[in-house]
Amino acid sequence: MRIVWIGSWIVSVALLATVDCKPRTLTEVPMPDYKSFRHVKSGLLLKGDADDLLTGIHHVYANDAAVEALRNRSDFPEDSVLVFDLFEPLDTPEGYKEGAHKFTAVMHKHSSFKSTGGWGYEAFLPDGKRVVSDANKMCFECHKSVESQGYVFTNAGMSE
Ligand code: HEC
Repeated sequence: MRIVWIGSWIVSVALLATVDCKPRTLTEVPMPDYKSFRHVKSGLLLKGDADDLLTGIHHVYANDAAVEALRNRSDFPEDSVLVFDLFEPLDTPEGYKEGAHKFTAVMHKHSSFKSTGGWGYEAFLPDGKRVVSDANKMCFECHKSVESQGYVFTNAGMSE
């Protein structure tokens, strides 16, 4: 009798755990703790190279899930997070250096963001203010051009 009771208890706990794992809905992209992420690459875009908004020194960071996908060139799993952190370019005699922090752009893969290719887009100002009012127009329309790479531009520069 006792064995049967323990058995059904285990089944109930397992069922509860299943219910608990129901996917959560995201209404907005959370600000990630990206300084603990893996640095993937950096780049310098000067006036004329790109839209003024994107000019500067940028660093791309990825969380573990996104690093694995980049490394294996596989699909990005749920909760993959990529960051594009941008600074003004300071032209000094010793070369370009990081100036003022412009913004931190974030892509968060989640089924809640179906209308923008399964990625949520947000950009945070240094004071934490959100700036994306229309992710489709401000971000997705450009990232759509790399649909074959899962809407992610960064596909190289990962050291093995
Ligand atoms: C005009 C085109 C364009 C627009 C608009 C744009 N991006 Fe990007 N984005 C790029 C390019 C190009 C890169 C790759 C930079 C590199 O290779 O160093 C990039 C990189 C990124 C990355 C790093 C992952 C990746 O795809 O390589 C994130 C995160 C990102 N952008 C978020 C955003 C967000 C959020 C917005 C809207 C606020 C946005 N982007 C708008 C062109 C764009």
